[in-house]
Amino acid sequence: MEKIVIEGGNRLNGTIQVGGAKNSAVALIPAAILADSPVTIEQLPDISDVRNLCELLKEIGGKVTFENNTMVIDPREMIPMPLPNGRVKKLRASYYLMGAMLGRFKKAVVGLPGGCNLGPRPIDQHIKGFEALGAKVTNEQGAIYLQADELRGARIYLDVVSVGATINIMLAAVLAKGRTIIENAAKEPEIIDVATLLSGMGAKIKGAGTDVIRIDGVESLHGCRHCIIPDRIEAGTYMILAAACGERVLIDNVIPPHVESLTAKLREMGVKVHTYDDQIEIVRDGTPLKKADIKTLVYPGFPTDLQPPLTVLLTQAHGASLVTETIFDHRFKYVDELRRMGAEIKVEGRSAIVEGPTRLQAAKVNATDLRAGAALVVAGAVANGITEITGVEHIDRGYSGLVDKLRGIGMKIWREKTETEEETTAVGR
Ligand code: EPU
Repeated sequence: MEKIVIEGGNRLNGTIQVGGAKNSAVALIPAAILADSPVTIEQLPDISDVRNLCELLKEIGGKVTFENNTMVIDPREMIPMPLPNGRVKKLRASYYLMGAMLGRFKKAVVGLPGGCNLGPRPIDQHIKGFEALGAKVTNEQGAIYLQADELRGARIYLDVVSVGATINIMLAAVLAKGRTIIENAAKEPEIIDVATLLSGMGAKIKGAGTDVIRIDGVESLHGCRHCIIPDRIEAGTYMILAAACGERVLIDNVIPPHVESLTAKLREMGVKVHTYDDQIEIVRDGTPLKKADIKTLVYPGFPTDLQPPLTVLLTQAHGASLVTETIFDHRFKYVDELRRMGAEIKVEGRSAIVEGPTRLQAAKVNATDLRAGAALVVAGAVANGITEITGVEHIDRGYSGLVDKLRGIGMKIWREKTETEEETTAVGR
């Protein structure tokens, strides 16, 4: 096991590169199951979720290569092999195998997903969608069994706006007979990216990116070449890091409208944010940071995935900021770790009050999930002294080459082997 070590207090300067979007990648890769010839996906991030999905596609008979961030998936010899256990448990997004395998084979067995523990993460809306399309769905010993004689288009109203359910229903519906309409659909850029790939494969999809998506089923889908969108959460994490301890940092490979809610918040706090075609520059000139209130919402609102790192930035702002989390119940777990670094944060239910500015002190801390890890990296960069972060495997699920990228803008950060059992198992803290 490894830990990330950061010597805090250095000013950051230079250019940092953003990779392909994790939450797109994890849907694009299973989508390839639906094709009848090879699919090439470019600019994929080299992260553990992507590597796990690559192995899962091989387990069901796919021929897959992944080199230089490009994955070529030949789905021709895939079979509807049951995947009740093992690798599927390692990532949340293994649920996309349900929609894609159901779409292609009309049956699937997929273990209930793992991934970040952010409280209850039901998939009732995914299942409601599959059932509306004609599938029989049962839950047996921690695995979901799906079976349909044929899939028929249907009108599906999502009771909760869900990224996962919207994409999963799209995957199951593209080869169904007739028209599917998803109402109250999620509008995240990742949904448009998946729709773009599926359209490239021959699917007929209209309205992706709005709250009504119309899909006209087709007989078959073919392979194509697709380039993934940049990761808006990775970009946002670097924007926050640059606001916390940068002088002049250029974030390269970003679609500025995708991070508009963060850009507006940073400007409100007094950070200079310059946007260009596919770059964003963050400039800090010594102006003190002002407090800000944030509330996480579905896109285009403020993303829940940026709430933890932004909360760290708020510890450096003058005044009391109010952070309200509306998407995931357990997204304040990292606050205990920040308190150990001296942060003054009070959590009450779904809200946190952050007092600032506080001088953070280095500590040994543990990342309990991916974005908690991102928050602790920002905290370590700001803090006085040497911070050690365990739970690095969570960070590796979503940030490729993080240490090298951050060293490139002047951060003192490195990886070390954990020495004691206690360090590796600090997870329970
Ligand atoms: N929900 C239901 N029923 C469902 C599905 C969702 O009640 O059937 C609820 C969830 O419990 C949650 C809300 O609806 O309260 C939104 O969940 P959504 O389905 O949109 O989230 P997700 O698909 O599980 C994706 C990302 C998350 C990101 C959220 C919100 C992937 C693999 N994961 O999760 O990413 O936080 O959307 O934008 O795309 C991360 O990257 O760190 C991460 C956790």
